[in-house]
Amino acid sequence: MCGIAGYIGYREAYPIVIKGLQRLEYRGYDSAGIMLYDNKIIISKTKGKVSDLEKLMNSENTKEGTIGFGHTRWATHGIPNDINSHPHVSNSGNLVIIHNGIIENYDSIKQELTKRGYTFQSDTDTEVLVNLIEEIKKTNKCKLGKAVQIALNEVIGAYAIAVFDKEKPDELIVARLGSPIAIGIGEDNKEFFVASDASPFIEYTKNAIYLEDEEMAIIRKDRGIKIRKIKDDTLITHEVQQLKMNLEQIEKGGYDHFMLKEIHEQPHAITDTYRGRLIANKGIIRMAGVDDNIEKFLNANRIIVVACGTSWHAGLVAEYLFEDLARIPVEVEYASEFRYRNPIITDKDIVIAISQSGETADTLAAIKLAKEKGAFVFGVCNVVGSSIARETHAGAYTHAGPEIGVASTKAFTTQITLLSLIALKLGKAKGNLSTVDYQNYLQEMELIPKKVAELLTIDDKVKYIASIYKDVPNCLYLGRGYNFPVALEGALKLKEISYIHAEGYPAAEMKHGPIALIDENMPIVVIATSKGHYEKVVSNIQEIKSRKGKIIAVVTEGDTQVKAIADHVIEIPETNEAFTPLLTTIPLQLLSYHIAVMLNKNVDQPRNLAKSVTVE
Ligand code: M6R
Repeated sequence: MCGIAGYIGYREAYPIVIKGLQRLEYRGYDSAGIMLYDNKIIISKTKGKVSDLEKLMNSENTKEGTIGFGHTRWATHGIPNDINSHPHVSNSGNLVIIHNGIIENYDSIKQELTKRGYTFQSDTDTEVLVNLIEEIKKTNKCKLGKAVQIALNEVIGAYAIAVFDKEKPDELIVARLGSPIAIGIGEDNKEFFVASDASPFIEYTKNAIYLEDEEMAIIRKDRGIKIRKIKDDTLITHEVQQLKMNLEQIEKGGYDHFMLKEIHEQPHAITDTYRGRLIANKGIIRMAGVDDNIEKFLNANRIIVVACGTSWHAGLVAEYLFEDLARIPVEVEYASEFRYRNPIITDKDIVIAISQSGETADTLAAIKLAKEKGAFVFGVCNVVGSSIARETHAGAYTHAGPEIGVASTKAFTTQITLLSLIALKLGKAKGNLSTVDYQNYLQEMELIPKKVAELLTIDDKVKYIASIYKDVPNCLYLGRGYNFPVALEGALKLKEISYIHAEGYPAAEMKHGPIALIDENMPIVVIATSKGHYEKVVSNIQEIKSRKGKIIAVVTEGDTQVKAIADHVIEIPETNEAFTPLLTTIPLQLLSYHIAVMLNKNVDQPRNLAKSVTVE
C-alpha cells in the first residue's frame, strides 16, 4: 500500500503534491517521488521520507508546472531504494506512472515485453505496467486512455494508478481496482486533485468523487472528468460527495505525535460514535444500519466477525459483548485466514467486518467470500466512503475522525463503543436484558468519555513506569474475559511502535507455558479490574510475584489487594465489566507511546508498517 497525490489545473502543482504526500505518508514511507510537467517532465525520487524528497527537490530541481503527481511507497516488489521508487517512466520517456497495489502477473508480462525489446531499470511491477501501456498505445495506435484500459484488462492484481503522457500534457488518467482513489473537483471544473484519500485536497475543495473498483477517469484540465468502466467502456456518472473532514482534524494540533493526539481525542471520538444514536434518558439506541435489518440480526444463528490487527481485537471484545448481552453465538476470524478457508456460512449468518480504514485487502476479500456464500454482511468502518463501507450490505461508521498514526488507538475504542451499542440494542430486543440493566448500561455509556478524559490525566505516572521498563527486551500482557483482547491489543501496541517483543495471553493460560519466561527481568502488565474473575487474576499475580516477575497492574480505583503485591498500579475509574476495555486500553496505549518516544522510535510511522494494508 502506498499513497498517491496529484494535481491538474492552474495552480503550481508542487506545493499541493508535496503537502498531499506528507498527509498520505501514513500509507507507506519507504520512499517518495514526484513528477512535474512544465514543457518537460521533471522527476525526483528517493529512498526515505517525503522530507527527503523535499530536500532533494530543493537542491536539484525546479518546481514549476501546473500538472504533477507524487507517490509515497510501502515496498512490495523490490527493496526500498531510489530506483524502485515511483514514479516510473516508460522506455520512450513519454509515459509516467504512480501505482498503489500489486500486479500479480507482472513477471509474465515483463518476459513478453523483454522479448519485444523493452528494458527495465527497477524490480517493480509498476515499471512493467507503464511499459505495457506504452506497448499497447504503440501497437494499437490509440490514445492514452484506451491503452490504459486495454492494459488494465490484461493485468491481474490490485491498483490505484495515475498515468501521464507527455504527448497529452493537459490530461491525467486514473484508475482503481482494490485500492482507493478520490478525485477532488475544484472551482468551475477548472482544476482537479487526485489522491488515495481526500486529505491532500481538503483545503482546496469539499467536492469529491470516489472511484469504484474497475473504473477509470480521464481528467482534462478545463474540460472535466469522464469516468468509464474498465471492462466494457460504459460511461458512468458519479454523485459528487460533500466532504465533512476539516484541516484541523488532519493536523497534529500541538501534540508531538499523531498517536498522542489520537489517544487524547478518545473522549470526543467515543462521544461522536454514540452521538445521535444513544438517547439514554429515553432508553433508545438508534442505528439505521441495524434498524433497517433488525429481523436479520434477531434471527441470526450466529455472528462471524472478520477483521485484522487491532480491529480483530475489537472483534474479540465484541464476542464477549454479543454473547453476554444479546446471547448470539459469535466467531471471530482473522480475515486473512477466513478468506482462504472453505468456511461454512449460511444465509442465517451475519458477518460483521470491522476496519478502521475500510481498505484492508484481507477484510475486503473475506466480505466478498461471505457475500458469495449468502451471508448478510455488516460493516463497522471509520473512513466514510471506503471500499469496505461500500462493499457491505449495511453498516455503521464509528465517526472517530481521521486516524493518522499507524498504531490504531481511537479506532479501537470507538469500534468497541459502536459494537457495544449494537449488542445492547439486540440484547434488549431479544429480551435478554432487563429494562433496569439496559437502562444502566445506557447511562454508563454516556459517562465513559468523562472517565476516559479522567484517565488521560495519569499520563505522568505512566511515563514514569515507561522510564523504568523502556529497555526491556520482552514484556507479557495478561487479562481475562473482556480484558483478554485488551492484553492482546496492549502487546500489539508495544511491539509495533517500540519494537520490544510483547505477547498477550489470557491470564489463566500463563501456567501452560509463558510462566517459564518469568524471572526478575520480565515485566508483566496485568489487567485486574474489580469485576470479572478478579480473585483468579489476583492468584495469577501471586504466581508471577513468587517467580520475581515485575508487575504493572491496571486495577479499579480503590483496589487494595493488588496494590499490596504489584510493583506499579494504574487505577481506572469504576465501570461495568462490559465497558472496562474502553478504560483499561488507555494506560496501555500511553505506556507503549512513552516507551517508543523514550527509545527514540518513529511513533507515527513505525518501521515496515503502513496504515492501511491494501495488499495481501
Ligand atoms: O484499517 P483496518 O482496521 O482494517 O486495519 C487493520 C490492521 O492493519 C490495523 O489494525 C493494524 O494492526 C494497526 N497497525 C494496529 O495498530
